[in-house]
Amino acid sequence: MGQTNLAKRNQSGRHITFNTIQAANSEIHQGHLVLINRDNPIQQTIASDSLTPLSLIPAIHTLREGMLLERTCLRHLADLLEACQGINDIIAVSGYRTKLEQEEIYESSLTDNGAEYTARYVALPDRSEHQTGLAIDVGKLNKDVDFIAPAFPDSGVYKSFKQLAARYGFIQRYKEGKESFTQISCEPWHFRYLGYPHAEIMEQNDWCLEEYIDRLESYPFEYDHLVFEDEQSFVEIYYVAADAGTSTTIPLVECDRFHLSGNNRDGFIVTAFLDKGSRARLTALS
Ligand code: DAL
Ligand code: ZN
Repeated sequence: MGQTNLAKRNQSGRHITFNTIQAANSEIHQGHLVLINRDNPIQQTIASDSLTPLSLIPAIHTLREGMLLERTCLRHLADLLEACQGINDIIAVSGYRTKLEQEEIYESSLTDNGAEYTARYVALPDRSEHQTGLAIDVGKLNKDVDFIAPAFPDSGVYKSFKQLAARYGFIQRYKEGKESFTQISCEPWHFRYLGYPHAEIMEQNDWCLEEYIDRLESYPFEYDHLVFEDEQSFVEIYYVAADAGTSTTIPLVECDRFHLSGNNRDGFIVTAFLDKGSRARLTALS
């Protein structure tokens, strides 16, 4: 497991070589780190070619036919189910939802469960992470599975799933004690894909996504970056505020690979991976 270095590194005097890339400002609303909640609604529908049917991995049990997830999210979910040995005991209950489906779920919950329950457990249309394809509700495989609040015990393979989730890029999105940030009650069944190492960093620091997205804004490119280290790589994470106009110039630190995501608010988050072998090479050259 990797380590987060939260201490701000003084980079003054450090020679930083960097390239730049250009991102359209509409991309603020795309990517694995988008914050979707009551105050930050969906602005862009996920491209249909990024959605993948769960039926591609027949070993995964699904509550309904035709379930979809964002491609990378599905790949990591399959790996996580294999790692926790839960493939025969865990059912995928709900993945990608269209806005219309979220409207129908919201309305039928109001009728069946009332306003208070619905406000606690069902996001308003366009405020649901399920519309991104990055959220998956999982449940205990049983004859009866509750679609809105599936049982997901804190024991056995379910506990292993939860414990290993961050390694595969998932967080339990709605935790007890974080309701004032998320405005949703604790949901042990709802996992959100953010990618590695973001999920690990949040888990290590007990940050929910609202807290993490706020924190990242204090690591702009010009100052110290959030640094995470594991056996294979150093990862630098930093925030780039969107430029005025239609596109933003994103500075990119020297790295072996990077991931760019919008935060669905006001800017971008760069995740730059430097393999440890490359770091030694760069140090020798400087
Ligand atoms: N159950 C979560 C909050 C949703 O409806 O997206
Ligand atoms: Zn959910």
